[in-house]
Amino acid sequence: MARKRLPRAVFDFYDGGAEDERSLRANRAAFGQHALAPRVLNDVSQVVLASTILGQPASMPLAVAPTGAAGFGWHQADSAIARAAMQAGVPYALSTAANTSIAEIAAIVPQARKWFQAYILRNRAFTENMIRRALDAGYEALMITVDLPVGGKRERDSRNDFSIPFRYTARNVLDFALHPCWSLPMLMRGIPKVPNLVGLNSTAQDTRTVASSVGRNFDPSFNWDDLRHMRDIWPHKLIVKGIMRASDAERAATLGCDAIVVSNHGGRQLDAGYATLDALAPIARALGRDLEIMVDGGVRRGADIVMALALGASAVLIGRPTLYGACAGGEAGALRALDILRDELSRTMQLCGLTSVDQISADILALD
Ligand SMILES: Cc1cc2nc3c(=O)[nH]c(=O)nc-3n(C[C@H](O)[C@H](O)[C@H](O)COP(=O)(O)O)c2cc1C
Repeated sequence: MARKRLPRAVFDFYDGGAEDERSLRANRAAFGQHALAPRVLNDVSQVVLASTILGQPASMPLAVAPTGAAGFGWHQADSAIARAAMQAGVPYALSTAANTSIAEIAAIVPQARKWFQAYILRNRAFTENMIRRALDAGYEALMITVDLPVGGKRERDSRNDFSIPFRYTARNVLDFALHPCWSLPMLMRGIPKVPNLVGLNSTAQDTRTVASSVGRNFDPSFNWDDLRHMRDIWPHKLIVKGIMRASDAERAATLGCDAIVVSNHGGRQLDAGYATLDALAPIARALGRDLEIMVDGGVRRGADIVMALALGASAVLIGRPTLYGACAGGEAGALRALDILRDELSRTMQLCGLTSVDQISADILALD
């Protein structure tokens, strides 16, 4: 439905990955390399999906990943997705590059579990000020994304002449005109802003910057010492997102980080990388209980969640499913995406003879 409603250039911006999209495809394909070995004749009339993520309850082992620029697909998509996550009882991560501010989201879903995802920008004073705003607004966790020292090379955007702010080529204008359900509200309400970055030079003005317009502000010098500093200034839970190797996960644990997300940014950064599901198992083996391990990338089915947990994750994150849901139907659409996954998770567990999330282990992936 999102594909139908959005101009192609906008849909491709959400849907696409870097370069040849090998990492993007690998994420999905990795789930196909595993299979479930069901146990039968267990009483599965009651299934408990409730879990603990970062020490707090969640209605299922899933959180909503940060997705920047969501407001280009649906008016105020960030708040729509945040509300849906709250209703579904799962944590929501707000992106630095969101189209709704840190404070606005906090006001819209005051009771919800909220994480703030920070990109580390060249302007460190600005970055720290942004993190301070998240602290003041009561965000439960800070998520620092580390797989983006530079912006990925997303060729669909170049081919589509897609950038934020928009580039009005003849083809784009035609594409927009052919999708009035998208373009009329956009015309009426104006182009979304990136409020968390207001005051940071160059973001708004540069009309030639490719879609990841915050990309030029990322700080490629950000390193482990800087991460230690972030640990020092953030008093609550700290999540490092974008780890793919056990040695890096160990280093994050040593620095006192609380959790990692095994992630390749949904295949939008490094192409030709490993699938995240394949990176998960060695990290889980090496880290044991030293820190909480989540994973994202290509989770599209309830069975995928079971597999990720069986391979050592405590929870999964989803990016595009709720984004597509919101682009198709705002809050109701995002909630529908979450409901579909919840239903499938429950059904898959029942079909496997599992009645609670903590029963999911590597055992379910092996025939005996
Ligand atoms: C359109 C889009 C925007 C994204 N923006 C961000 C972002 O601002 N910060 C971030 O850490 N990750 C971002 N991501 C990556 C997601 O947080 C997540 O890692 C990824 O989408 C998971 O893969 P999935 O989409 O296959 O579920 C973005 C992903 C997409 C598709």
